[in-house]
Amino acid sequence: MPEDPAELDGLVSNACASFAACNDDAALANAKARVLGRDGWLTQRMRGLGALEGEARAAAGKALNAVKARIEEGYHARSNALQEATMHLLMRAQAIDVTMPGRGIETGGLHPVTLTLARIESIFRSIGFDVADGPEIEDDFYNFSALNTPEDHPARSMHDTFYVEGGLLLRTHTSPMQLRYARHHAPPIRVIAPGKTYRVDSDATHSPMFHQFEGLWLDEDISFSDLKSVYTGFLRRFFEQGDLDVRFRPSYFPFTEPSAEIDLRFTSGPLAGCWLEVSGAGQVHPQVVRNVGLDPEHFIGFAFGSGVERLAMLRYGIADLRLFYENDLRFLRQFRD
Ligand code: PHE
Repeated sequence: MPEDPAELDGLVSNACASFAACNDDAALANAKARVLGRDGWLTQRMRGLGALEGEARAAAGKALNAVKARIEEGYHARSNALQEATMHLLMRAQAIDVTMPGRGIETGGLHPVTLTLARIESIFRSIGFDVADGPEIEDDFYNFSALNTPEDHPARSMHDTFYVEGGLLLRTHTSPMQLRYARHHAPPIRVIAPGKTYRVDSDATHSPMFHQFEGLWLDEDISFSDLKSVYTGFLRRFFEQGDLDVRFRPSYFPFTEPSAEIDLRFTSGPLAGCWLEVSGAGQVHPQVVRNVGLDPEHFIGFAFGSGVERLAMLRYGIADLRLFYENDLRFLRQFRD
């Protein structure tokens, strides 16, 4: 049976149309199987060639092979198109729009208390002071007794203390670090000891946790005027005001004698003209010198203790201490370099 070219053309275009209508690989595989699969019509037809003889068989075989080639071409065209479409979708899904505005990387900044501590430390280091550290949970001995403040001493009421288990307490000032350092270092001693301190107190100018730094200068031939010049020099550098007024006013601390309160007065700026208290200070009490194992006949010490937040508030013009601890980014961002 000779093949009818018109009929074959129709079959080819039907097959190609059935491929073109497929929208995914599975449908295309089915459509292909219906033509070229083991039971596909073209396969069956080619199997039928066996029944033909001689030239007729050759002619029919040639015609069917040509049909097969055209159908396979149609199949590959659709298969490629589907693959390309899939790739396109995938690329679209993974596309990055390089014209979109960037999200940016926000950098943090140092907390104003940290900045202030760094500033204090660098000024004191530059004049030969060491920087020491000590425990925030103290015992009664270091926080009070060894600082000349025994149990029944009225000055204890100056410090509203947080007690913790085991007879320990949260240090109420940085002064215990004077003792800890002096017990383990030989004079001459020049050290500051910054850190957190705790008192039961909370309002616009008091926080239950705040920072102090202690200073201790213990040597053989020094005098109150050395303390005055070191601390005055520090304040003038800290506030970058060379003509800052500093005044030492008589005061009382159990561990210093004589004792002083240190006030400063700005000569310019919004706070110019008023005296502002910034520190406690004094000559280390002979009994405290004895408590660190030294002879007060030979050694004399000068000490000071200052509030770090207080200095930061004055330097930056911050009115409320609580701002330091609320972690409001609008506040903190103003100190970013
Ligand atoms: N420790 C004292 C306070 O916190 C301050 C101080 C330190 C006073 C050193 C004298 C000498 O109030």
